[in-house]
Amino acid sequence: MQEEKKNCLSRRDALIGAGKLAAGAAIVTAGVNGLITPASASKPAAFPWGYKKIDPQLAGNIAYENWYKGFCCYAVVTGVLVPLQKSMGEPYASLPLMAFKWGHGGAVGWGTLCGSLTGAGIATGFIAGHEGEKILNDVILYYTETDLPIFKPAAPKAQIKNVNTSDSPLCHISVGKWMKKEGVKFFSGPRKERCARLSADVAVKTVMLLNDWVDGKYKASHGSNVRDHGITTQLNCMECHGDDVPEPII
Ligand code: HEC
Repeated sequence: MQEEKKNCLSRRDALIGAGKLAAGAAIVTAGVNGLITPASASKPAAFPWGYKKIDPQLAGNIAYENWYKGFCCYAVVTGVLVPLQKSMGEPYASLPLMAFKWGHGGAVGWGTLCGSLTGAGIATGFIAGHEGEKILNDVILYYTETDLPIFKPAAPKAQIKNVNTSDSPLCHISVGKWMKKEGVKFFSGPRKERCARLSADVAVKTVMLLNDWVDGKYKASHGSNVRDHGITTQLNCMECHGDDVPEPII
């Protein structure tokens, strides 16, 4: 919450600053052209907004701590974008990041796309636009096939025993499998800790891919589910369809 307050303040300050600049520009050029409209004052920032390398550990730490303030989606958005607000300033600095909290629990508790992945998509969208979709695609693949969480917080808020491979990007399935393995309820300290650490892992992975991308070293690893299967889908077909996986009409 504190961070958001700062955002609001810095936005206001930025607006005041922009006004001063515009006035200055008008004075400087007035002598030459008479009446001048400062062109840059109202021009929206070119999209996408770009990127400066981030230390993955920093992104993980921010995501972990912020999970406890606004949950998974907010955690990953802030893990990636707070460092850019500091290193790149506007337009990132004006984004009120708490606006992205809604992704928690797979969209306000509906158990659909894990909010950490929604958060990764929001960040990669601002940073890389269309290119960002490839990065998100690979982050989702990583999420579904890796034993998570991996992240070890410097000062853990709770202890957990288990890791699990979700085989699915869905909040419901991912957290459900882990809860069963750990033997805990949804509203428990260890479950919160698992989701906080997992959000840190997603922030770390996203930043690692973005760091490669900005260096020109990134190569997309996952293809298109739609092209491979003839329908929008996740890859754990048999978990829902059993042995009788339907063939799409193609
Ligand atoms: C999260 C659960 C889930 C997963 C995972 C899933 N499906 Fe489905 N799928 C469904 C449900 C529910 C329907 C609704 C139609 C039905 O009753 O079969 C459906 C419908 C379909 C349909 C169109 C309707 C039909 O029944 O022919 C196709 C084709 C299909 N799935 C193929 C796949 C394939 C291939 C995969 C894996 C690449 C997959 N599904 C993964 C739950 C799932």
